[in-house]
Amino acid sequence: MTTALNHRTRFTDRTALVTGAGSGIGRAIALALAAEGANVVVAGRRRDPLDETVTLIEGAGGKALAVTADVSLATDVQAAVAATVDHFGSLDVAVNNAGVFRGGAPVADLPEEDWHSQLAINVTGVFLALQAQVRQMRTQPAGGAIVNIASTFGVHTRHPGAAAYAATKAAVSVLTRGAALDHIGDGIRINAVSPGAVETPMSLRPGESEADRADRARATLPLGRISTTQEVAAAVLYLASDDATSVVGTDLVVDSGGTA
Ligand SMILES: NC(=O)c1ccc[n+]([C@@H]2O[C@H](COP(=O)([O-])OP(=O)(O)OC[C@H]3O[C@@H](n4cnc5c(N)ncnc54)[C@H](OP(=O)(O)O)[C@@H]3O)[C@@H](O)[C@H]2O)c1
Repeated sequence: MTTALNHRTRFTDRTALVTGAGSGIGRAIALALAAEGANVVVAGRRRDPLDETVTLIEGAGGKALAVTADVSLATDVQAAVAATVDHFGSLDVAVNNAGVFRGGAPVADLPEEDWHSQLAINVTGVFLALQAQVRQMRTQPAGGAIVNIASTFGVHTRHPGAAAYAATKAAVSVLTRGAALDHIGDGIRINAVSPGAVETPMSLRPGESEADRADRARATLPLGRISTTQEVAAAVLYLASDDATSVVGTDLVVDSGGTA
């Protein structure tokens, strides 16, 4: 008998919806879920990057569907959940990863539009997605699991020039805990992952190259490097899986030891 020791299939026969899955962390989460057997619906505003994620998943033998949606619009997130259920029959896992960072300026100089857009996408987007996802999951005998992507910039650390973004991510952490309490009785586990700096363009400071960022990480992070998107995905999959059946309302930090 041969055993594929490293091949885990925690999500076989489950369907996952990942927002912001056309790039970066969201794409890595979608690929990881598919690699462990999930049917994956990838959502975001731009079609082409979503189609690329679907192609990658299908190329690896998985099943995926792209749905364009702006998470700041209730009708769009409701339609994404409906499309998920229409296409694959259920919504078992949802990952609310879509987010934007508009920083660099101190509070007094931040354009008001940057405040509103970050609130609309990072906070209202997670709230609306939670509503649509929970309303579906609580109709299912097996319930579901939801993971929201917050950030160490929220409740865990402070950085100049990022107050508005930090406020939105703190809101995601707090919203996660409250929603977890509200809906564990519905059979739905809700948790958050708070990444520190991750290897996507979002963690580059203005004018900084990837090499500069690596130097900064070597000098400032206990691990000596920033996190990979796969490392963040691994934390998300843990919380979304049956490995975490008694983990409710936690906020798992994945930050190379930055807040240790
Ligand atoms: N990178 C880091 O160092 C880091 C650290 C901590 C937390 N995070 C968080 O991790 C998440 C992913 O970040 P990332 O680094 O992977 O950045 P990214 O590559 O820019 O990914 C963000 C994704 O969100 C989507 N998105 C943005 N606004 C949206 C909207 N209104 N509706 C639907 N989708 C939307 C984008 O696609 P469209 O533009 O096509 O919609 C994009 O695919 C974010 O929530 C971010 O705040 C990142």
